[in-house]
Amino acid sequence: MTPHNEAKNGDYAETVLLPGDPLRAKWIAETFLAAPRLVNSVRNCLGYTGSWRGRPVSVQASGMGQPSLAIYVHELLAVYGVKSIVRVGTCGGLSSEVKVRDIVLGIAASTDSAINASFAPFSYAPFADFGLLRRAADLAAERGLKAHVGGLVSSDVFYVPEGVDSYGGLPAHGVLAVEMEAAALYTLCARFKARALAICTMTDCLVTGAQIDAAERQSSLTDMVELALDTALEV
Ligand code: HPA
Repeated sequence: MTPHNEAKNGDYAETVLLPGDPLRAKWIAETFLAAPRLVNSVRNCLGYTGSWRGRPVSVQASGMGQPSLAIYVHELLAVYGVKSIVRVGTCGGLSSEVKVRDIVLGIAASTDSAINASFAPFSYAPFADFGLLRRAADLAAERGLKAHVGGLVSSDVFYVPEGVDSYGGLPAHGVLAVEMEAAALYTLCARFKARALAICTMTDCLVTGAQIDAAERQSSLTDMVELALDTALEV
């Protein structure tokens, strides 16, 4: 038990899927997992444990942004003994090469957040677990899913003031998409010697203004969750 989580030791599986939205955690647990059991509802930041293809797995919501994610992830790693976390989220495209509905597998995550600055010097570059990344890329190719391996930027700012080009030169340096969580996830998992990967579906393109429609959103989320579960559990 922690200030933010009422689960008991042993309530979480070693492998956790991490959406931002609590209702998406509920949907994933109820749609994909066998025998899902609610393990946390403090602040409605829902967490569940069940199984996928016979393997134990949990789903925990992170909330939006790195400070929220860092609380849940720190506790999963430090208190509950979690070893592997796959974020399943959405992202905004920064490159015209990535289309809405495509998947971005974040090999690294730049950030404008100060969250790592005090603990990880030298403009530390948060990075994904290579094994998870390779497996996700291979599985996506086998399934005919359009997945790009590239950089993410985890920004603290969703609403950028008009006229400000806040992502500036990042696309010219291999950053494909913006989201709000991966850098803190990668940093914490590195610190606790756990494995991490962020898998993001592109829902809106900041270059072209294209947006995913409701039907595409649902089917692409299903593809992404199945990819994440099979990647994380190596099934
Ligand atoms: N910015 C940040 N996070 C996002 C975006 C965005 O435009 N789209 C989806 N997640």
